Amino acid sequence: MADNKLIELLADGEFHSGEEVGALLGVSRTAVWKQVKKLESLGLALESKKGRGYRVVDGLSLLSADAIRSALPAGVSESLPVLDIFQVVDSTNTVAAANAPGVPGYRYLCLAEQQTAGRGRRGRVWQSPFGRNVYLSLVWQFSSGAAALEGLSLSIGVAVVRALRDAGAGEAQLKWPNDVLYHGKKIAGILLEMQGDPAGICQVIIGVGVNLDLRGASTAEIGQPWNDLYSVVGKVDRNRFVALLVTHLINVLEEFSRSGFAQLREEWGALDAYRGQEVAIHLGEQMLIGCAQGVDESGGLKVDIDGSQRVFRGGEISLRSMG
Ligand code: BTN
Repeated sequence: MADNKLIELLADGEFHSGEEVGALLGVSRTAVWKQVKKLESLGLALESKKGRGYRVVDGLSLLSADAIRSALPAGVSESLPVLDIFQVVDSTNTVAAANAPGVPGYRYLCLAEQQTAGRGRRGRVWQSPFGRNVYLSLVWQFSSGAAALEGLSLSIGVAVVRALRDAGAGEAQLKWPNDVLYHGKKIAGILLEMQGDPAGICQVIIGVGVNLDLRGASTAEIGQPWNDLYSVVGKVDRNRFVALLVTHLINVLEEFSRSGFAQLREEWGALDAYRGQEVAIHLGEQMLIGCAQGVDESGGLKVDIDGSQRVFRGGEISLRSMG
C-alpha cells in the first residue's frame, strides 16, 4: 500500500526533494523511488525532475474526517457517530455493510480515496480512480420494512442534485430512477442495497459516487457519456463538497422518513431531464417507445405509449433519449 505520509506530503502539488521524502519516511533514496512508484500504481500523475524531486501534478485535495466534520452543521455531525475514511477499499458499500452493525443505530458513514471494485447499478463497474472523486456510503435504518421504501432511491437523487447545485452546478438534473446528469451526461450515480428484515427493521446502504475531477483518469471504460464537477466549476474542496452532500442526504432521509416520497415528488419532477421527451424503455429483450410523463407518487415512471399511460418501476428498465 502507498504510504499515507508520502501522499499527504505530495498533495500540495509542489516539488519535494528525495532527501525530504527520505527523511519523512526514514528510508534511503532508493527506497524513496520505490515508494513514489507505488503512488504511480494508484493512477496518480507524478512528475520527477532532476534537482527538484517529485510532485503530484495538480496536487490532491485529500479526504479528512476532521475537515468534513468541521464543515458539517453541528446537528448533522452529532447525528453521525462514526465517519471512516479509507485509502483503498473494494467498495465502500461492502465496507459499510460489514461495519454498520457495530455502530449505534447502524448510523455509519464511510468514504474512500479509491475503490478497486466500485459497483454501479445493473452489474456495472463504477470507475473509482484515487483521490479525485467522491465514493461514499451511508447506512440508514428504517423500521417499517422494504415496502415503505418506495421512492427512496429517487429521493436520494434529489439530495445529490441539491449538493451539486449548491456547489455551483446549477443545471444538474435527474434521469429516472436516479442517474444524476449535467447537460445530459452522467456526473453522479447512486446504488442502494438493503440488509436486515424486508418486513421489519432493515438498513439501507446508500452508495453515492460523484465525479468531481476525472482529468487524467482512464475514462474509456466508463461506457457512457460522463461529466465531472471540475468541467463545470473548476476545482472544489472535496471535504466541503462531502459535507454538503452528507447534509443534503441526511435532510432528505429525514424528510423521507417523515412523509415518504410524496414530499419530494414535485422537486424530483422539476429536475427531470426527460419529461416530455420521446424515450426508449428496455425491458429485457423488449423495447418500448413512448413519451416520458414524470413520476407517480411512489416513484414509478409514467410513459405514454400509443395514447395510453403505463407506469414502470425499478428492475431492468433503462431509459434512453431518442431525441
Ligand atoms: C450507478 O451505476 O449509477 C451507481 C453508481 C454507484 C457508485 C457508488 S461509489 C460509492 C458506492 N460504492 C460502490 O461500490 N458503489 C457506490
